Amino acid sequence: MRPFFLGFLIALALVALAAFGAVQTGAVPARGDEKPGALEKWAAHTSLNATIAREAPKPPYPYGPPTGADFVHAANLYVQNCAVCHGTANSTPTAIARGFSIEPPQFGKHGVADDPEGETYWKIEHGIRFTGMPAYNQSLDEKSIWQLTYFMKHLPELPANARAIWEDPSLAASATPGPVPSPGAEGGHDHGASPLPSGGPT
Ligand code: HEC
Repeated sequence: MRPFFLGFLIALALVALAAFGAVQTGAVPARGDEKPGALEKWAAHTSLNATIAREAPKPPYPYGPPTGADFVHAANLYVQNCAVCHGTANSTPTAIARGFSIEPPQFGKHGVADDPEGETYWKIEHGIRFTGMPAYNQSLDEKSIWQLTYFMKHLPELPANARAIWEDPSLAASATPGPVPSPGAEGGHDHGASPLPSGGPT
């Protein structure tokens, strides 16, 4: 029993040493232009799906059904916060979008209308680890994230004035994201559709 246990400990130590060595020598991939391997992809997807199944909001949702004003507000937010990576109706991928090893889907081509709203809400709120998808709970309030969620869900069938912005982002309220107050400080603040708060870029 004892020699077996000792052998087990030595094997464990060797595995730990090999892992440490791989990190120390740079054998663990660190480049941003290297595609993730099959094992990494499987682990990330499986864990993401399990996390979403556990944590994503289930109907009935706290906001909705969305109004025309919600869609317009979301279209502005989308252009300011999302278009740089996900594009708009007729855009080609930006330099930023092309640089990710995990490519941001271009929603003008492949949308998420099939996904339940709760799943899309969760992704916008928390972001997706190991990808470029940011968490927006640091910068947008809950209502704005729901508005964006419904916007994503209804992309193929937006009301005309929201669709106009989706098709021509130069119509959006502001082309660049401004600094936003922390969500706790100003609940319900109407980010984006109104002029930037003072102190923002002019
Ligand atoms: C810096 C780049 C970047 C920005 C900005 C960004 N995203 Fe993403 N997003 C990504 C990447 C990369 C993925 C792919 C993640 C993956 O494959 O798991 C993604 C995935 C998603 C998905 C899941 C798509 C699917 O097919 O399941 C949704 C929904 C999404 N983003 C919405 C948004 C919204 C809404 C915004 C703006 C509020 C936004 N993203 C801003 C990079 C970005």
